[in-house]
Amino acid sequence: MLPAPPCAIVIFGASGDLVRRKLIPAIYELARQGLLNERAYVLGFARTPLDDDHFRAGCHDSLLAHARTRPIDEQVWRKLAARMHYASADYSSSEDYARVSALLNALDERYDTGGNRLYYLATPPAQFEPIIQHLGEKLRLRDALHPPAPEDGAFRRIILEKPFGRDLSSAHELNRVLHRHFREEQIFRIDHYLGKETVQNLMVMRFANSIFEPIWNYKYIDHVQITVAEDIGVGARGGYYDSAGALRDIVQNHMLQLMALVAMEPPVSLDAISVRDEKVKVYRSVRPIRAGAVGAFAVRGQYGPGECRGATTPGYLREKDVNPASRTETFAALKLFVDNWRWSGTPFYLRTGKFLPQKLTEIVVRFRSPPLTLFQKQCEAPVYPNDLLVRVQPDEGISLRLNGKVPGGQLNIRSVAMDFRYSSVFNAESPDSYERLIHDAMMGDQTLFIRADEAEAAWAVVDPIEKGWSEDKAPPHTYEPCTWGPKAAMDLIEADARRWLHGDNQPEPIIACSL
Ligand SMILES: NC(=O)c1ccc[n+]([C@@H]2O[C@H](COP(=O)([O-])OP(=O)(O)OC[C@H]3O[C@@H](n4cnc5c(N)ncnc54)[C@H](OP(=O)(O)O)[C@@H]3O)[C@@H](O)[C@H]2O)c1
Repeated sequence: MLPAPPCAIVIFGASGDLVRRKLIPAIYELARQGLLNERAYVLGFARTPLDDDHFRAGCHDSLLAHARTRPIDEQVWRKLAARMHYASADYSSSEDYARVSALLNALDERYDTGGNRLYYLATPPAQFEPIIQHLGEKLRLRDALHPPAPEDGAFRRIILEKPFGRDLSSAHELNRVLHRHFREEQIFRIDHYLGKETVQNLMVMRFANSIFEPIWNYKYIDHVQITVAEDIGVGARGGYYDSAGALRDIVQNHMLQLMALVAMEPPVSLDAISVRDEKVKVYRSVRPIRAGAVGAFAVRGQYGPGECRGATTPGYLREKDVNPASRTETFAALKLFVDNWRWSGTPFYLRTGKFLPQKLTEIVVRFRSPPLTLFQKQCEAPVYPNDLLVRVQPDEGISLRLNGKVPGGQLNIRSVAMDFRYSSVFNAESPDSYERLIHDAMMGDQTLFIRADEAEAAWAVVDPIEKGWSEDKAPPHTYEPCTWGPKAAMDLIEADARRWLHGDNQPEPIIACSL
């Protein structure tokens, strides 16, 4: 990767969790690798009263706790810390923006950034619109917040964290506000899953190898499963979570992105427009689920009281800041169809939940079984179908399950795996998504960011399910912590004579065959 151009990284919500756990460690890592320009600087913007020294001390603590490479390189840190600043300001005060403008001007000059600015919105989403509005108005008035004028060739970009709205209409409204002040080329909507190596590798695997593409369709693939499992509950985020739920928090963004990368057609090129065009086509091809028929395609659940890996919970409804009568789902399982030529009739099963037995993000592509000939006649059970397993986290890698003969005089067949693990093959840990994404935003590469129409098309998939659930009189199914969700989720897939699969399933039994 090339070093990024000089710029100001202005972080709104700089006192928050995301900044501490992800952004500061990513910026440090870019500096450590020489990818952050020596003329780049950080300005943290939040209400919490702090001075530069306290802000820097807090960032140093974040690195001690969360830096990817530890111990941290104190020399790199000292050089970076000297370029980190903080402004305590109100998100909706024009006077405060004017004060911060003057500070930014002075810092731009001091660091000779050429006026390049990257605004990072790391606040709760309710603050997005006022901040965009303020930034935009200053921009239009050519106020000091955006000097010199845009024609100077300097860039002004804005990064937003998900959620981008809470349904199609609010997403549309957010886009309208954004577009009033920024061109789409200036807007970088982050879904951090897209910064993960394995997720990027999905495209390489599909389109840079000749063996997959010819069989990547309904004729050879029986179905696809995508699992995003967490082994913890809502913790301190009960208030936020209760207004969102699994469908909005995970399915609408991370899971649909993974599905789009599995299902999309080969783009005409790897540029941002072509790749995102193909993803939008996938969302638009998803068969709409009528609100009245949601029960046949979607299951929702809530975890009850219990214990998982040493953590106990009183149950979702008794978690802090959760409405005791809440119908918000902590688990969702869906069956979707992509109604296009390639995927005709092929189900995509998606499931996600909190307090599941392990933290895991995985895609399983199950191929159709070989024709019922030869082995089927002579073996006690049908041979196993092949699975391609893409492990996004933890332990990023790809595994292909094949049938192999067990050594010896008998004809015994076992399912064996050809494994590719990032950590062992490349002998290196994958960079954190935020390193890649912040660097891409500084470089102006939008390929791994969500486009306005993409966010809206994904909401159009999810909205009817939300509507169906809101009209449904029955509450979500309850499930015990540390299980794979409610029984209804098993029924959803078992009704199609299939079952949920994941990498840690027990090894399949050996199949004995007669010679
Ligand atoms: N945390 C994550 O892992 C994660 C993952 C994916 C996406 N996100 C998204 O990233 C953004 C930031 O997440 P976060 O977890 O860092 O948020 P957070 O800690 O709740 O908030 C970030 C900062 O925003 C400021 N803020 C402004 N108005 C606020 C309000 N009404 N209530 C609470 N804080 C307010 C607070 O700083 P001051 O009080 O000092 O102004 C706070 O420190 C959100 O949009 C979130 O959805 C977060």
